[in-house]
This record gives sequence, C-alpha cells and structure tokens, in this order.
Amino acid sequence: MNIRINQTQYSTEVLSYLKVFYPLEKIEINLNHQPLYEITIGSSYIEVVYCGQDYSGEIRKRYDLESKKVDENQYITYSPKETIILKGMLYDLCSKVTGIVPTWGVLTGIRPSKLAYKLYEDYGQQYATLILEKNYKVNSNKVKLLMRIVEVQKHFLADALSLHSVYIGIPFCPTRCSYCSFTSHEIKTQGMAYTQYVDVLIREMEARKEAFKYLRSIYIGGGTPTSLTEEDFDKLLCKIRELMGDQDVEFTVEAGRADTITENKLLSMRRYGVNRISINPQTMQDETLTNIGRGHNVQTFVDCVQMARRFGFDYINMDIILGLPGEKVSDVEDTIRKIMKLEPESLTIHTMALKRGARLIQDEKTYRKLMNDQIDGMLQISQKIMDEAGYSAYYLYRQKNMIGNYENVGYCKEGYGCIYNIHTMEEKESIVAFGAGAISKKVTGDRLVRKDHPKDVKTYLDNIDEIITANKLFWEE
Ligand SMILES: C[S@@+](CC[C@H](N)C(=O)[O-])C[C@H]1O[C@@H](n2cnc3c(N)ncnc32)[C@H](O)[C@@H]1O
Ligand code: SF4
Repeated sequence: MNIRINQTQYSTEVLSYLKVFYPLEKIEINLNHQPLYEITIGSSYIEVVYCGQDYSGEIRKRYDLESKKVDENQYITYSPKETIILKGMLYDLCSKVTGIVPTWGVLTGIRPSKLAYKLYEDYGQQYATLILEKNYKVNSNKVKLLMRIVEVQKHFLADALSLHSVYIGIPFCPTRCSYCSFTSHEIKTQGMAYTQYVDVLIREMEARKEAFKYLRSIYIGGGTPTSLTEEDFDKLLCKIRELMGDQDVEFTVEAGRADTITENKLLSMRRYGVNRISINPQTMQDETLTNIGRGHNVQTFVDCVQMARRFGFDYINMDIILGLPGEKVSDVEDTIRKIMKLEPESLTIHTMALKRGARLIQDEKTYRKLMNDQIDGMLQISQKIMDEAGYSAYYLYRQKNMIGNYENVGYCKEGYGCIYNIHTMEEKESIVAFGAGAISKKVTGDRLVRKDHPKDVKTYLDNIDEIITANKLFWEE
C-alpha cells in the first residue's frame, strides 16, 4: 500500500499509525506510485484524501489551522500538536474506510496512563476526559478506565521524596514459551554464561553500591529469576540485602513459572525480605499450557501458590494472557474465576502481543482474524469479574502489535498496587538497572534519559568492565 505525503517529518508517525488500520500490509511512501491516502500539509491547512476505488463515502478531511476546525463540525478543545490533529483526521477517515475503530484513538505509545496523568494534573479530571475523548479520540470506556487508574495512582505518586528504584534482570528461562515477546535465553543454550552470570551481576551491583540507598522499591525480573540454581539465587538475594541494609521497601521477585520455584528458593526469598512475588499461570486451561510449552500444568501452579502461602507470602501477583491459541471467551472466564478462588493480591491481565518470529505465529493473518473476534469479549468479561471481586485497575500499558490494539491492565486488592510497576509506567523517578537487557532510566525534573545494557548475555559478560565505566559516567554526568 502506498502513501503520499508532502512533508517528510510526519512520515514515521503516519506510517506507524496506519499500521493500526492495515496491520498486515506493507506500507510505503513512494511518490511515483498511485497512493491509497494522500496527505498535504499546507501553510494554513492539513488535508487527508482517500484515493482508493472501493469506498463510496466521504473521502476527504480538511483541518483549517486558523479556525481550528476539522471540516465544519469538529472542534479542537485545546492546542494539540499538529501530529495529533493529523492522526485524528486519519482516524476519522481510515475508520470509515476499513471499519476498524481503534479503542485507543490516535494513541500508539505504550504509556497512555502517563498522558492521562499529565492532563489530569494540568487540567483536572473533567477537561482531561474531554481532551482524551475529543482530541485523542480514545474510546470513552478506556478514558473512564484511565481516570480510575489515575485516581488510584495519585496516592502512590503523591510524595515528592527523592527516591529511586532498582531493577535487576535475570534473562534466563528453563524453556521458551511459544508466545513470549520478551528477551530471554533458554538455559541449555547458555553453557558457561549461565554459571558465570550471578557473579558478574554482583560485581556490577557492587560497583554501584550507592544505588541501593534511598530506595523506593526493588524488582528482580526477567526472564525468570527463579530459573537460577538455588545457590546462585540465594547468593544474589543475600548480596542485595547486604547492599540495601534494613530498608523496608517493596521487594519483588518475578518468580513466574511454577516449574522453577522450589522450597529452598521460597526460603531464600523469605530470609532476605522479598515481600512480593509473581507466580504466573497465564491460563488455567491444561490443554493451552501444553500447547504454549509452559512446563507446568494447572495443578502444579496451584500447589506452588499454596506452598508460597505456607511460607508466609502475603502478596502474590499472577499474570494471565488473553488471546492464547485455541482459547475462547469461556476459557478466559473459567481461568479468571479459578484464579479468584486463589485470592491473589494482584492480577495482571495481558492481551496477546504478536511477536514476529514467535513460534506461536505460523499464520499471523488467520490468528489475528480468529482472535480479533474474541478479544473484546475476553476483555469485557475479565473487567466484569475483577470489578465484582472488588479489585481496582491500578496500572496500564500497551505493547506493539497487540491483538486488536488493546492493553495490559494490572488489577489489585485495595492497598496492594505495585509501586515499581506504577513508577515504570509513569516515569517520575529514576530506575537504576543491572544485568543483561536491563534498561536504566534517569529522571531529572521533566527530563528522562535511558541507558541499555546489552541484551545478549555473552556480550554483557565479556564487556562488564566497559559497561560499569559507561554506567558510572551515565549516572554521574
Ligand atoms: C517478563 S514476562 C515473564 C514472567 C515469567 N517469566 C513468566 O513467564 O511467568 C511478564 C509477563 O508478560 C506476559 N507476556 C509475555 N509474552 C507476551 C505476549 N506475547 N503477549 C502478551 N503478554 C505477554 C506474560 O503474562 C508474562 O507473565
Ligand atoms: S513467558 Fe516467561 S518463562 Fe516464558 S519465555 Fe517468556 S519470560 Fe520465559
């Protein structure tokens, strides 16, 4: 599919936004070919025209920069950027032509709640709601969800103390789940790198000891942190506790897969003060668990949760995914009802993101078609059950290539929102990261700078001295 646009600075945003309506098309800008959409940005107007033959409705949208009107009847209620106006016009036209009405309007980023929070702070709830609906064209149910999340997050983001969080990445998993969109390495392919990893990670942490003072929270994520050996896992936690002293902060381990969690690892976590863990079923359907290569079944998951409760863990999070292969709305309903019986303190409900090259996706077109019909119903039933069970949505994020362009939502019982998750999404405080693939974020006032660690474990291990020096510069400049 071809697009014509007379000002190239808008090309990237336009191309990425059109993917929402044409997810499977290769979209190009080529002035020599007949375009499907023609975009003209003049000195006093912006115009978008549909040039295809297969649609007989309105084919043109025009925004007048002086009167600030789109055609005759749509008003922009405050002063948004030109790209937002342009995307809004594409939204209007493409929805009509394709029949796809994106629930998130013109928003394509992964942090809609960050924008909602900012608008809320700047304009108050009523006007923020209006701006999100009118200018960003976000579906009114999603705006309500965002506003509920902002209300919950206000309590977590209110204090202005100068604190930060620490993230420690363990990029290993026993095996790779077929749908997974995260970077992680199967242990069996890693040889020496797996055995050396914790020692090198500890060296990196010791070189930046000061990161463990003035903590808001600590998060050990992955991959699957509990896929370390019991000895390595204990050694890592012991070092963290030594560095952080007796600070009593939220301390999460994303244990994840039940097949990696042992009594000794639970004991280590209790000993060193881990106070929040994730044990993730993804689904409570055994057939799906086998299909996606999870390495545990429903019973092993339930046994693992009960074992963690016996060891005294009183904050357990669980993750599930909507849109797993072969699942229907009724499977999701059954999954969530079974999970509610286990009374997790929080549940994160993800919508499947289709990762190119993931084993799951042999035929993306068919998969999308099948799932697009189901996903809305899955989201509705999950929201209904969570509301009835008294959980509140407390954070929300989006990934690239999600089915139906929906979202991931974290729900929690009252008082249990995850401080780390909220801070990663709202980006109001720094995060000091350690380990392969981990990303540090330095927040100074309104300015945010990121610094990546190499994703490949061997590259991380071989270059640890340079990484330590580069990070020192990053944090101290
Ligand atoms: C960093 S992953 C790892 C957690 C842990 N290793 C596990 O599997 O339980 C965090 C969560 O992302 C979600 N996830 C992974 N791949 C996904 C995908 N392709 N689409 C949507 N959610 C995904 C899963 O729910 C997973 O629990
Ligand atoms: S979902 Fe978790 S266990 Fe599975 S491959 Fe991804 S990170 Fe590893």
